[in-house]
Amino acid sequence: MRGRRGNLLRACALAACAPVSAFAQEAPQTALDPAGAQSRSIGDLWWFFFYVLSSIWVLVIIATLLAIYYGRRNRRRDTEGIEGVQALPTTKPDPASERRKTAWVGGAVGLSVVILFVFLVSSFLTGRKVSSMSTGDSVYIEVTGHQWWWEVRYIDQTPSNTFTTANEIHIPVGRPVQVKLKSADVIHSFWVPNLAGKKDLIPGKDATLMLKADREGIYRGQCAEFCGHQHAHMAFLVVAESPEKFATWQQQQRQPAAQPTDPAQQRGQQVFLTSTCVMCHTVTGTRAGSKVGPDLTHVGSRQTIAAATLQNSFGHLSGWVSDAQGVKPGVKMPPNSLSPDDLQSVVAYLQSLK
Ligand code: CUA
Repeated sequence: MRGRRGNLLRACALAACAPVSAFAQEAPQTALDPAGAQSRSIGDLWWFFFYVLSSIWVLVIIATLLAIYYGRRNRRRDTEGIEGVQALPTTKPDPASERRKTAWVGGAVGLSVVILFVFLVSSFLTGRKVSSMSTGDSVYIEVTGHQWWWEVRYIDQTPSNTFTTANEIHIPVGRPVQVKLKSADVIHSFWVPNLAGKKDLIPGKDATLMLKADREGIYRGQCAEFCGHQHAHMAFLVVAESPEKFATWQQQQRQPAAQPTDPAQQRGQQVFLTSTCVMCHTVTGTRAGSKVGPDLTHVGSRQTIAAATLQNSFGHLSGWVSDAQGVKPGVKMPPNSLSPDDLQSVVAYLQSLK
């Protein structure tokens, strides 16, 4: 559409954003590679602004260079006429030249007003396009922002089909998704640049965001409103998958937690249920039912932990369970002084919760 130049510019912009995400390879987080109709409208607007403003910048630089060149030349011409006399600036204005300059400045001001007006109208039209989407056959998700993680509830008309997960949102490709945004504490902002614009989560004032992915992929989202110490580590993943895969995932998430099968996992479950873990977390099918922290019923099936801060691996999970403060200072999760055997068992149990 925009040819090789556009691709080069995009590559430069992507390279500049690369350090932003540790998962950039698998889960891009960029508004310049849209994967949905909403983000495409925003992307088109962004490129329109970019090309117009870059052209203006180039013109301003050229005008400045010309002004310097002609200013110097005129000054040289004035001094050459009076040989041996010290150069003095010309004070006598030339009316024709003054009129010409006034016309140029007036024209530039007029053009700026016109361009700003075009920007205003195109922003408005893009805003309308982004917010108007057919809502038939929508998937309903309720996302609640917590310091510093995301609670995700899939709402179903049959209450027993409603389930809760955290920090990882699955959506079916091609179907509209209505995301109801809430906050449990302070103002957060929900932003998946590959799919849509930002929307704030304001305590006591629910908002709705529409999403639709055109192609499969894993997209990284990020809290976009400063919300305290670990704001930068309040990320999440959006997994856009085929409707069949989504249905399978949904079915699996609705199940109660898997019962541990091997002795290490069984011991892990015992440790989990008799320690402070149960005071904050839920594992459906067990007596752990607290809502302070993320629901762990299917934590083993998630790709990341700690709000997309770490990949979900045995090592990371062990580090997180024993010393979450070392990873994300200030989080509500306290350190757990478990014996090495107990820690390994708990982590084995958590990993078995697929
Ligand atoms: Cu939540 Cu920033």
